[in-house]
Amino acid sequence: DVYKRQGQRADLVVVAPATADLLARAASGRADDLLTSTLLTARCPVLLAPAMHTEMWEHPATRRNVDTLRGDGIHVMPPAWGRLTGADTGAGRLPEPADIARLARLLLDGGSLPWDLAGKNVVVTSGGTREEIDPVRFLGNRSSGKQGHAIAAVAAARGARVTLVTSSDLPTPPAVEAVHIESALEMRERTLRAAAHADVVIKAAAVADFRPADVADSKLKKDSGSEPTGIRLVRNPDILADLVAARGSGDVPADCVLVGFAAETGDSSGTVLEHGRAKLARKGCDLLVVNEVGRGTTFGEDVNGGWILDSSGGEVLVDRASKDVLAGRILDAVAAMWSRPSGVSAADRTD
Ligand code: C5P
Repeated sequence: DVYKRQGQRADLVVVAPATADLLARAASGRADDLLTSTLLTARCPVLLAPAMHTEMWEHPATRRNVDTLRGDGIHVMPPAWGRLTGADTGAGRLPEPADIARLARLLLDGGSLPWDLAGKNVVVTSGGTREEIDPVRFLGNRSSGKQGHAIAAVAAARGARVTLVTSSDLPTPPAVEAVHIESALEMRERTLRAAAHADVVIKAAAVADFRPADVADSKLKKDSGSEPTGIRLVRNPDILADLVAARGSGDVPADCVLVGFAAETGDSSGTVLEHGRAKLARKGCDLLVVNEVGRGTTFGEDVNGGWILDSSGGEVLVDRASKDVLAGRILDAVAAMWSRPSGVSAADRTD
C-alpha cells in the first residue's frame, strides 16, 4: 500500500532504463510489483527511457506495446543509437542522462509531450548568422540558438523528423539532423532545400539584415596611424519572405505552415503586440512568435515568454517559462493549424 501511495503522490515518474519486459508489463496494466503498481497508480506524467537490444526494440510485440503506452498518454522516448550491453551496436541504447533529464524537467514545468508529430517533417532554424568581413572577422548578433534548439529537441521528442539549420555551437538534440551554416545566404539555401519536403518551417534564427558587400581574401591589417576604412553593407534576403513566396510558386508544399519570430519593444507608435500583428501581416506567415525584448531578457537566457499570433486573428499568451515549455506551446499552435478543417488555406494568407 505504501508503494501505491508513492505513485499517487508523485509529480513525475521516470523509468530509466525501461526494459522490453517492463514496457510489456506496463502496457498490459500489470501491478504485481513495486514498479508496475507505482505506474498503475500514478496520475502524474510518466516518462519511460527504453534500453534493450535492437531486435527487441524492433519486435512487433514491443512496437505494439509502445503504441499502446503512447496511446495511454505515457511518454516513451525513442532509445538512442549506439553500443549496447553486448558486442552489438544499434537502436536500443539508453538515452543520455541529460536528454532524459531535459524531458523530465519539461514535464515537471507543466509542459506536455504528446506523440503527435510522428511522420511530420519539421524544419527549424536557430542561432545568429555570421557575416564574413575577412577570414577571421564577422558581423554577428547575440542570438544563442537556445530557442531554436529547444523547438528542435521538443519536436523530435514528439516524434517528428527534424532538420535543424543552425549557426549555433550548442549540442545537437537527439534524433535531430543538424545542418551547420554560417551566413544568411547559406541559411537561405539550406532552409529552402529542406522546406521542399516540410510540413512546417519554424524560423527562430536571428538572420543578419545586412552583410559586408566585399569579403576580403586576407585578414584586414591595421595600418598604424590611419583610420580604418568603412565596411559597406548590402541587404540580405529575407528568408521568411522567400519561404512565403516559394510556397506561392509551389517550391514549398502549399500546406506547409510557416512560423516567424519577432523580437519587439513597445514604443510611441504601438505596443509590442501591435507591432507583432503588423509584422505577421507584412511577413505573410501563418504564426508569429512575439518576444518582448529588453536589457537582459530573451537573448541567451533559459526562459522566454510572449505571444503566439496566428493569421486568422488568434493569440495565445505564454507567460515567462523555460524555452522548452515555449517550444511545446509553439508546436501545439502548429498542430492546431494542421487540425483546422481547411488547414492553411489560401484565404488565410496575405501572399
Ligand atoms: O523583420 P524581422 O527581422 O524582425 O523578422 C524576424 C523573422 O524573420 C524571424 O523569423 C527571422 O528568422 C526572419 N528573417 C529572415 N530573414 C531575414 C531576416 C529575418 O528569415 N533576412
